Amino acid sequence: MKPALTFIGAGRVGTSLAILFKKAGYPVLGIASRTASSAEQAGALAGVPVLTAEEACRKTDILFITTSDREIPRVVAQLSSDRCFNRGQIIVHTSGAHSSALLAPAHAFGCRLLSFHPLQSFSPPSLALVNLRGTVFTLEGDATVMDIARQLVRDLRGEPVIIQAEQKVLYHAGACVASNYVVAVFHLAISLLQAAGFSPETARRALLPLLTGTTANLQKTLPAQALTGPIARGDISTLSAHFSSLNAQCPEFLAVYHQLALYTIQVAGEKGTLDAEQLEKLKELCSPLSADQTL
Ligand SMILES: NC(=O)c1ccc[n+]([C@@H]2O[C@H](COP(=O)([O-])OP(=O)(O)OC[C@H]3O[C@@H](n4cnc5c(N)ncnc54)[C@H](OP(=O)(O)O)[C@@H]3O)[C@@H](O)[C@H]2O)c1
Repeated sequence: MKPALTFIGAGRVGTSLAILFKKAGYPVLGIASRTASSAEQAGALAGVPVLTAEEACRKTDILFITTSDREIPRVVAQLSSDRCFNRGQIIVHTSGAHSSALLAPAHAFGCRLLSFHPLQSFSPPSLALVNLRGTVFTLEGDATVMDIARQLVRDLRGEPVIIQAEQKVLYHAGACVASNYVVAVFHLAISLLQAAGFSPETARRALLPLLTGTTANLQKTLPAQALTGPIARGDISTLSAHFSSLNAQCPEFLAVYHQLALYTIQVAGEKGTLDAEQLEKLKELCSPLSADQTL
């Protein structure tokens, strides 16, 4: 029989996981949140009852605390001072950067601790439901919960990967680069097209197929092999023209463009199509910023 689950924190992750675990056949006993309206909305979407946090903790085999990271210790402290935890329960959070140590007060009650991080970006729950299949979930916590944790992930059709507590912050930094910073770089690309006369909406529409095509290449091959463009070709004059135009027309983007170009030269080096002299010339062009190129 599958263990009973409850949730505290009716946001994007809590709501999505409640829906998905229910679909996967788990008894999801209910969801609690700070505000009644969030809990009611999530309860309606997942088809589960609204609970108080105390009920969510007392009733369950596995409690997911899916609040924002900074609220997790507060929720645990409150449940601890109200003596809601029961021996043998599994207490889980879904933070990427924090380890299960954030749940430590529950250990004193004989609970087992788990950090369970879906390496996925959750916007509205409806999108997460589509995206989650094949997602890696990183698991860290008490050794005795790992079999159950792996089963939870497999039942969501994800892929479990064990991570050590001390590696979580760096791992999370990598996840931020692949998601948040890609979004920020896309924003930069739109800004450059706007500086070239595009409307923001036309720029977004024009760049999206390019991004989609690039992602498709990354699915087929390693990043170095997927790299195209002037740096991959060793086209120094084009890169130099980029720097000049940025300097003249939108100098506020020059520093970040330089840094991205420098990293891209490293990737081009891995690709192995440029010789040492070409790589050196590209590096010289990028670094350090000359006095007239600085902000
Ligand atoms: N979003 C992502 O892409 C993503 C991906 C992987 C992991 N995570 C992790 O998953 C967790 C949840 O993230 P999220 O994006 O779902 O956050 P979110 O959408 O901001 O939702 C957090 C929910 O927690 C509730 N909450 C806050 N403080 C509370 C408290 N003291 N007691 C009860 N409920 C409380 C809020 O409730 P009210 O609405 O009731 O105020 C809010 O609905 C975080 O640890 C995050 O790092 C997020």
